[in-house]
Amino acid sequence: MFNFLTLKFVKMKKVLVLTAKPFAPVAVEKIKKIVNEAGYEFSLLEKYAGQPELIEAVSDADALIIRSDKVTREVLEAGVNLKIVVRAGAGYDNIDLDAATEKGIVVMNTPGQNSNAVAELAMSMMVYMARNLFDGAPGTELRGKKLGIHAYGNVGKHVGAIAKGFGMEIYAFDPFIPKETIEKDGVKCVDSAEELYSTCQYVSLHLPANEKTKKSINYQLLSMMPACATLVNTARKEVVCEETLLKIFSVRSDFKYISDFAPDCIGEIIGKYEGRYFFSPKKMGAQTSEANINAGIAAANQIVSYFEKGDTTFQVN
Ligand SMILES: NC(=O)c1ccc[n+]([C@@H]2O[C@H](COP(=O)([O-])OP(=O)(O)OC[C@H]3O[C@@H](n4cnc5c(N)ncnc54)[C@H](O)[C@@H]3O)[C@@H](O)[C@H]2O)c1
Repeated sequence: MFNFLTLKFVKMKKVLVLTAKPFAPVAVEKIKKIVNEAGYEFSLLEKYAGQPELIEAVSDADALIIRSDKVTREVLEAGVNLKIVVRAGAGYDNIDLDAATEKGIVVMNTPGQNSNAVAELAMSMMVYMARNLFDGAPGTELRGKKLGIHAYGNVGKHVGAIAKGFGMEIYAFDPFIPKETIEKDGVKCVDSAEELYSTCQYVSLHLPANEKTKKSINYQLLSMMPACATLVNTARKEVVCEETLLKIFSVRSDFKYISDFAPDCIGEIIGKYEGRYFFSPKKMGAQTSEANINAGIAAANQIVSYFEKGDTTFQVN
């Protein structure tokens, strides 16, 4: 006989998509479909006003899908049912991993799902700067120039593949990737960051932001770059040491900086170094429908796989 008493205690799992910066609508639809087909409840909170709204929303969620949203200790403590948080994207420095681990909450990212979008942005930023921010004056070409890829992970690898089409000479430094893996892509592997910066007119950053890499792009490295140096940052604002960034801007009139993130010291750059910088008004590396769909679908599937099979592939804590 149907047991209403049992039914009373079976609570449907709730997956909350929590995005201050919304996914493309088509990505949301695809996430919802995966969640509903797994028999879970789907919930969406976009463009929320601030942390209080976020904290209220997580109180009955079993799983979260987030983007650059800040998942602090307070948020994790408010999520009394939370079992898993998936960052639809690569970097997870916006999540308090220690707090999640203490509470037994699994944290995952979705590596590689938005790499092509970020790589296309890095290359287009290089073209934009090489053509003097499209001001009509004669610029330069990328063909034949040396490009240094600082960190040869998912994004760095895509940048190398696209830059090859531009006819650039490509170098990479990544101490955690075997030299053979890099060189089989037709990319020259160098043994140190110093070698990369002293060789390449263009350097594109693809490092994670962690205790080792924060502020690691410093004056020593930047001052080694050849004439007409351009630094491209689609990785994280924090990896560049801003005090030394200002110093290099002031002592080298040939130095240019293009970034997907405005530095905190933007006030000391604007109006002073015109034509030598570009900062995205809003981080837009992963802002393509394709990247949203790829990362959103991956996040939803990873949650289902975790709940149904205990699959912890891509766990980062
Ligand atoms: N702008 C955006 O919207 C956007 C979108 C996606 C990713 N990102 C950022 O881009 C960066 C790269 O992302 P990814 O998906 O390629 O990550 P990934 O994890 O695939 O690759 C990171 C690479 O960095 C290397 N690395 C780590 N520490 C290093 C060090 N000290 N020196 C040299 N190499 C080091 C690792 O070996 C790895 O190969 C991350 O910071 C990520 O947060 C930005």
